[in-house]
Amino acid sequence: MYKIVRKDMLTPTICRMKVEAPRLASAAQPGQFLIVRADEQGERIPLTISDYDAEAGTVTIVTQKIGASTSEICSYEEGDSFADVVGPLGIPSDFTEKSAEELASKKYVFIAGGVGTAPVYPQVKWLHERGVAVDVIIGAKTKDLIIYKEEMESVCDNLYICTDDGSEGFKGLVTAMLEKLVNEDGKKYDQAIAIGPMIMMKFATLTCRKLELPVIVSLNTLMVDGTGMCGACRVTVGGKVRFACVEGPEFDGYLVDFDEAMRRQRMYCTEEREATEHHTCRIGRGK
Ligand code: NAD
Ligand code: FES
Repeated sequence: MYKIVRKDMLTPTICRMKVEAPRLASAAQPGQFLIVRADEQGERIPLTISDYDAEAGTVTIVTQKIGASTSEICSYEEGDSFADVVGPLGIPSDFTEKSAEELASKKYVFIAGGVGTAPVYPQVKWLHERGVAVDVIIGAKTKDLIIYKEEMESVCDNLYICTDDGSEGFKGLVTAMLEKLVNEDGKKYDQAIAIGPMIMMKFATLTCRKLELPVIVSLNTLMVDGTGMCGACRVTVGGKVRFACVEGPEFDGYLVDFDEAMRRQRMYCTEEREATEHHTCRIGRGK
């Protein structure tokens, strides 16, 4: 059993939980994910790791209530335990393999969209701890949905906030902010990393291509086993079938077939809607 030692709500629908998982915490690296099963009957939910502390033996996950299973996870409170937390899964971020000299010569820009801001944090923190220059763009629909602002400020060189409605920071999408930074403010970057909704990663990639900036994206595909056996996480990258759970989740954005990935993501929308409508929380605290 995996005990929740801390829970806080970042917004009314996004919760952050620190979970006791010592072996996972000591092995986790930026870019990896884990799979949570709330109870014995629970669905396996892949979640990106938002932080890890090997000394305390804890990992942090951020979950948005979007369906029956994510609502179930968010209904758990401090002191409750999950049946399973499996990981770390997937390949760590590409930069973890680079030498200190290589990293020192690069300037990174992260493009974080909505809930996708949480998994950006451990990556920026890892680079910051090694003295690497990192700028971060966070995009959210509105001010109240911005997450990880203070945490990110403490680990990046420059933080640029954008909101769709202009309630905080730049009014517009993350892609418009990136274009402004490069084309108007004269910023120079060697590598972009985009994490957020699939549609944002598609347009971030198109913008990066225009700016001749290499971009890595983290694909949040459907997943079932997370071990390369079931094929649920199948994506086409560079014309080849790849399994996001074992060969990703990070891929070269230029090579990803985003339209197919978005079609596959929507495959079970009807079933998910029905499950959410009929969901009764098994831990007994309502939806
Ligand atoms: P959102 O829809 O509020 O979008 C966040 C920001 O992304 C927007 O403010 C905007 O700046 C940018 N964006 C959105 N659409 C865009 C477009 N067409 N062009 C350019 N920029 C665009 O985000 P949300 O509601 O928090 O997103 C939730 C989604 O994020 C879920 O689908 C979830 O699965 C996904 N997610 C992905 C990851 C990952 O690892 N990739 C991690 C967590 C969550
Ligand atoms: Fe089953 Fe990737 S989730 S192969």
